[in-house]
Amino acid sequence: MSKQHDTVASQVNEYDEDAVVNPSSNAHFDDILAARLSRRVALKGGISTTAAALLGGSILSACGGNDDPAPAPAPAPAPAALKIGFNAVAKNKNDLVTVPDGYNVSILHALGDPMHYGDASWQDDGSETADSYNRRIGDGHDGMYYFGLSDAGAFQVDRSERGLLAVNHEYVVAPYAMHPTGRTAGAARVASEVDKEIYAHGVSVVEVKKDTAGVSMVRGSRYNRRVTSATTMDFTGPARGNAQLATLFSPTAVQTRGTNNNCANGYTPWGTYLTCEENFLNVISRAAGDDAARSAKEVASLGRYGLPQNRKSPYLWETAGTADLYARWNSSVTGAAATADYRNTINTFGWVVEIDPFAPDSTPAKRTALGRFNHEGAWPAPAVVGKPIVFYMGDDARNEYIFKFVSKANWDAADVGKGMAAGAKYLDEGTLYVARFNADGSGDWMELTYGKNGLDATNAAYPFADQGDVLINARLAGDKLGATKMDRPEWGAVHPTSAEVYMTLTNNSNRVPATTASLIGSQLKTDAANPRAYEDIKGGTTSQKGNPNGHIIRWRESATDVTKLTWDIYLFGAQADAASDVNLSGLTDVNDFSSPDGLFFDKRGMLWIQTDDGAYTDVTNCMMLAAVPGKVGDGAVATAAGGTQTRPGAKASADTVRRFLVGPKECEITGIALTPDNKALFFNVQHPGEDTNPDFAAKTFGSYWPANQADANVKKRPRSATVVITRKDGGEIGV
Ligand code: FEO
Ligand code: CA
Ligand code: CA
Repeated sequence: MSKQHDTVASQVNEYDEDAVVNPSSNAHFDDILAARLSRRVALKGGISTTAAALLGGSILSACGGNDDPAPAPAPAPAPAALKIGFNAVAKNKNDLVTVPDGYNVSILHALGDPMHYGDASWQDDGSETADSYNRRIGDGHDGMYYFGLSDAGAFQVDRSERGLLAVNHEYVVAPYAMHPTGRTAGAARVASEVDKEIYAHGVSVVEVKKDTAGVSMVRGSRYNRRVTSATTMDFTGPARGNAQLATLFSPTAVQTRGTNNNCANGYTPWGTYLTCEENFLNVISRAAGDDAARSAKEVASLGRYGLPQNRKSPYLWETAGTADLYARWNSSVTGAAATADYRNTINTFGWVVEIDPFAPDSTPAKRTALGRFNHEGAWPAPAVVGKPIVFYMGDDARNEYIFKFVSKANWDAADVGKGMAAGAKYLDEGTLYVARFNADGSGDWMELTYGKNGLDATNAAYPFADQGDVLINARLAGDKLGATKMDRPEWGAVHPTSAEVYMTLTNNSNRVPATTASLIGSQLKTDAANPRAYEDIKGGTTSQKGNPNGHIIRWRESATDVTKLTWDIYLFGAQADAASDVNLSGLTDVNDFSSPDGLFFDKRGMLWIQTDDGAYTDVTNCMMLAAVPGKVGDGAVATAAGGTQTRPGAKASADTVRRFLVGPKECEITGIALTPDNKALFFNVQHPGEDTNPDFAAKTFGSYWPANQADANVKKRPRSATVVITRKDGGEIGV
């Protein structure tokens, strides 16, 4: 979902992903550094702890650089066989997907396309019925994954000619909203419109085939399936049955309905899809005066997850009627007990949801062991037989945290194809950790387990009752442990052979230089892992402050200690003409970008970087780049704009990072998947034309994509869609 766009058109103001709800007094990085420094200096008989703590960040950074055991520079990577092999696409603002010479663009599916026979094709007038969206492609295409499909209907990891493509439908694009002339105005929503929106959220699974005619959706396939904001799903793991998940629908707290605001994704080695619930506050309201009916713990939890009392959701689904289908979006005390109302609706979202694409009748599961927060996605480390399964995850909001889950069970390759049963084995028992990135390039994974690290009833800010409580309130647990507040964690990706982990930090307007004397509101000082604070002028007039262009952090896990890591910053987003302490990665016109979001390693080790940008859109639409990265520690320590010392990776060149495509107007590029033969690449265009008020009578829209991709004269409503890229010579993508 776009957050930095200057939306003038939305009839609904989407939930602000940038909203800051992390008021915890976690020690700022420099304070942590000060504590460490003071300990070291004290041991040396130097300055007192108090004096050290009072020193400014810049002094401490300098001292830290000399005193901490910096990781030895990694040897230069061996010459990679993998080489980028296309001509860079120029930045542009065309209303088209622009790809390199020699590549084809085709549309796999777009909002409203029927997945089965019996429903009419897209009419471009909003006449599709609400019910038909249970069988149509949803809106807001986002994260996705391709699963090879065998002739016998099983997961076949190397099958490129036949597969299942699971796609997230993150949200309904407000100015259009699939209705005949946009959303009907008024304090109470029209029920039929809300029904349509509920069914257009969630996930689609479709069969795809690749043959000499190209890649296409198999309409009517038995695997084609929609999971929506009304689909029944199970709670599993430690929070299953927890009273905080009890609702009128499931008083025993073992089930709920719907997955919402599914942003990025994950996948498992056993062949299931993970879809992750991010901006669920889009659809959840809370009544005025509700605090008085709540316990202090409930109020603390609701506040930490951004739902104050007297808060109306942008979508107002709860206003469409008294039926349960609508009332459930009001997360307020209305009944005698939690089992008689929907006060706990908010707690039923923010999870990682597992779906077995090979079993269309299977019940999706909210895997609570992976914690509840604004889950962007869940990215697996390469599975190793006999070792735990590991997932990396980010909480996408300003100043939030990075997490990892380590399964209790060790990987057994015989579990490939075992669907939800394998999910229960690996995802319902394990350990959740939260990350702290230290200024010396080291890092700590801190365990979020009830009874450890002060996560118990003695925690003053939020007394924890049990492990379910810790997982439902993972943000509050992270606060207690002093996790590092990041510049909005978006996608992660794990290198297929080195297992080094990359994660985009898309931007943060709240970062201020570490030397700032007093912080205002939720401002946060720079630290080594979130090091830049600067001003960028957009379009010659608009001031953008903080870290408007974002960066990509990466780390290497310790080989011997699951709680230790070593990090650097792989790449800094920047305009090519920015100052050198902003453009720390040396980007040029062939590879400059802003606001990295989507990220994906293909099995060759090529890294695909996508943008969801509003900062550089005076110059270019959002884009996708291909990269061949080095390794953690391949760069040199530098001082970032704002004065904080950081650890950049090796500078980029046209050989290591190159722009592969540019999207149409007012879109976000997101979601990446490749067929196993690397000859077809799928990506999503989300919300083209979102920033411009549509004129339905005149048929004037902010974008006419995708209808205009093949013929610029065709002018239809803009729609989110999945795009397929192939090479005209049939070769592998990107090389
Ligand atoms: Fe939906 Fe964090 O982007
Ligand atoms: Ca985003
Ligand atoms: Ca995203």
